[in-house]
Amino acid sequence: VLEVITAEEAGFCFGVERALDMVLKAAKDNEGLTVYTLGPLIHNPQVVQNLEAKNVKVASSLAEIDSGIVVIRSHGVSPDILEQAKDKDLIIIDATCPFVKNAQKYARRLVEDGYQTFIYGDYDHPEVKGIYGASLQKATIIKQKSDLANIKLRAKVGFVAQTTKSPESFREIIASVITEVKELKVYNTICNTTDIRQSSARKLAEDVDVMFVIGGHNSANTTRLAEICSATNTPTHHIETATEIDKKWLHGKNKVGITAGASTPDWLIREVVQLMNEENKDVNVESTENLEESE
Ligand code: F3S
Repeated sequence: VLEVITAEEAGFCFGVERALDMVLKAAKDNEGLTVYTLGPLIHNPQVVQNLEAKNVKVASSLAEIDSGIVVIRSHGVSPDILEQAKDKDLIIIDATCPFVKNAQKYARRLVEDGYQTFIYGDYDHPEVKGIYGASLQKATIIKQKSDLANIKLRAKVGFVAQTTKSPESFREIIASVITEVKELKVYNTICNTTDIRQSSARKLAEDVDVMFVIGGHNSANTTRLAEICSATNTPTHHIETATEIDKKWLHGKNKVGITAGASTPDWLIREVVQLMNEENKDVNVESTENLEESE
């Protein structure tokens, strides 16, 4: 019989779950009105399809929306985009993750308090664009420690980080700056959900015979989870839905581990667990038949 274990932290983080709930509520409360999300709410094709069926559409910019409801996703946006949405008389539902809002608020505060402000993050990530906007476009975005090499540091320096950055690399950057300036103010805006999800996946992978990592094939964080699991030498399969599972992968295995990326909804995880349970039934049937035969 297969033992199926799901990682302690798998699937949606708090911020994404909250955003999705807000969108679904908006669609339910405003039947007949189109609800637009500014950019895809999450990188999961199954969820996007589901939302489309509920009259929730993805707009890539405000220019595509003339009226109705616009939802700001968990990544947040630059304050000037919120202003533009207000000017267009759109109904705004701001589902920016509160942790991202904090990063925006701190970046703004650092700038206002006269710190040379840095955002540690990826230039083209929507969350970073929003934080940059919140800093009144005065912060400098650095992608890695070496980006600081060509920048003259002032006496007062401040830092925030993109919420999904690795704590180790942020620590290294801060350590490299601390003796170069008179005053350093750091807001640790890294969200630990990613770290917890990764370490619980690693722990589980070490303990099972085969690992399934569920999430969009184009999802960076799911791919990273699969890499972490396969580095434990446990056979690991990155799948988007239960239909991709080849039952051969389960042959000779007793313990199956399941984890999922940050944009994977619970129901996709449940489908995989259900399939494993069905497999269990098959095994039971086979073994009963065998017993009967031998009697
Ligand atoms: Fe998720 Fe918010 Fe953290 S969106 S990853 S809980 S910053």
